Amino acid sequence: MLLSSPAKPGSGRYNAANCCTSMKTPYPILSPQEAAVEIQNGQTVAFSGFTPAGAAKSVPGAIAERALAEHAAGRPYAIGVITGASTGPSLDGVLAAADAVSFRTPFQSDPRLRQGINEGRIRFFDMHLSQVAQAVRAGVLGRVDWAVIEACDVTPDGEITLTSAVGAAPTFCAAADRIIIELNRSHPPELRGFHDIYEPRNPPHREPIPILRAGDRIGAPGIRVDPRKIMGIVPTSAADEVAPFRPVGPVTERIGHLVADFFAAELRRGALPPGFLPLQSGVGDTANAVLLSLGDHPDIPPFEMYTEVVQDAVLTLLRRGKMRFASTCSLTVSPPVLREIYADLEFYRPRLLLRPQEITNSPEIIRRLGVLAINTALEVDIGGNVNSTHVLGRNMMNGIGGSGDFARNAYLCVFTCPSTAKDGRISTLVPMVSHLDSSEHSVQVVITEQGVADLRGKCPAERARLIIEHCAHPDYKQLLRDYVALAGHGHSPQTLKAAFGLHQAYAETGDMRRVDWSKYR
Ligand code: COA
Repeated sequence: MLLSSPAKPGSGRYNAANCCTSMKTPYPILSPQEAAVEIQNGQTVAFSGFTPAGAAKSVPGAIAERALAEHAAGRPYAIGVITGASTGPSLDGVLAAADAVSFRTPFQSDPRLRQGINEGRIRFFDMHLSQVAQAVRAGVLGRVDWAVIEACDVTPDGEITLTSAVGAAPTFCAAADRIIIELNRSHPPELRGFHDIYEPRNPPHREPIPILRAGDRIGAPGIRVDPRKIMGIVPTSAADEVAPFRPVGPVTERIGHLVADFFAAELRRGALPPGFLPLQSGVGDTANAVLLSLGDHPDIPPFEMYTEVVQDAVLTLLRRGKMRFASTCSLTVSPPVLREIYADLEFYRPRLLLRPQEITNSPEIIRRLGVLAINTALEVDIGGNVNSTHVLGRNMMNGIGGSGDFARNAYLCVFTCPSTAKDGRISTLVPMVSHLDSSEHSVQVVITEQGVADLRGKCPAERARLIIEHCAHPDYKQLLRDYVALAGHGHSPQTLKAAFGLHQAYAETGDMRRVDWSKYR
């Protein structure tokens, strides 16, 4: 039920009449400050959320205020922060700005946090998202003191209904000593039933996860916890902070068309079953454009998604009947689209399911379903190795996210990116990636706005030729051919002396096109 007129924060006593009407047991109603005061310097807090969807948005601000006050008084204050994936400015942004983060994992995308990480002030470790829950259960990330969980409802006997994402919240609730609920009125409690909460057992007792189709439901609608672990409820109505998408531009549109044409050709030649296979698609504008193109392609039948993030385009396709079902970990949609979903929940109920990231990104399920994975690279090398995370080998962008989980286990693994960055001064196709996330053994197809390199069954020299001739920007084709010539013979056309020649040219001149291969002869 909706929290229609919340008890005054600070009253310290939950009042069933004006909080969740389904509750009989009182949980204390807390202000964000009253919750934050319990969280001590050096403790670890696991926050709900997967992208800004479903992320805690109220308590982090109060923790940040507390950190600033402690620092002003000359006392240290910082917490370890674990989440499902990235979050919004009200979590990562405020905590980073207040210098309140001692370590952070597994993924982020906030500019202030990124700056702290790249200045070496914040310890960040990048993890495959499928492995976060297991790492928490095993205790390898240390003790989890608090779970701060956004919910649309919580019952007296401790059933928590999550909001627009699941992430790793079920595991966080189980592992944490205490739980604080952010009860968010902007998400309707009628969301109950959209979540499928399932946690595998630890090895050696783990059993097969019984998902045979993208839409199979295997778990419970809510997270069950001992109600005595719930310290209190912080009422809020803050909306998810998902940034609106940029309109599809010519480069992303072209990439989208090429991806759709590629899959249509695979269908025609029988390399994909006629009914298509479930799709995973990454985050960002390119991913959104790719989905729209797949939706528009006349030869691609209505399909399903088995993915970790649902973006705006997915809802358009569900509405049009071009998508039959989407299994996801989060509804990372812009605020107007989320309002549209909430206004017509009964249309979406049989078409959308939210699962924990341990399940959406499970290698077992991705392999079983034969997921078609489309992710975005920062750079790709002529061998087909992909860097998704580090700018020029040094600065963290966001993290590997789920790209590694899907790329390694997909039926067909596609990486896309524009062929250049920074107004053409950077080629995203390089001799050797400056950081490796997904290797040539996983990456099967590379698509830029220039064309498609199908690397399957190709030796390194053939891959290099396909990537240069089909994917590189015309400004860089000859430079890359010259590199291959410089490399000479060997199984892979590489020479360690010049492998980072383009990166070096950018560092020295601000433009990779100024590379001088004669220096490396
Ligand atoms: N070298 C340096 N900078 C580069 C670059 C390169 N090779 N390629 C891109 N960039 C810069 C762009 O110029 C842009 O900079 P700006 O923010 O200053 O404008 C920035 O990187 C982002 O590039 P863009 O083309 O807008 O990428 P995107 O929004 O499509 O995101 C990734 C691309 C790789 C950062 C993003 O997809 C990601 O984080 N992937 C890893 C996680 C993932 O794949 N999860 C999968 C499932 S959801």
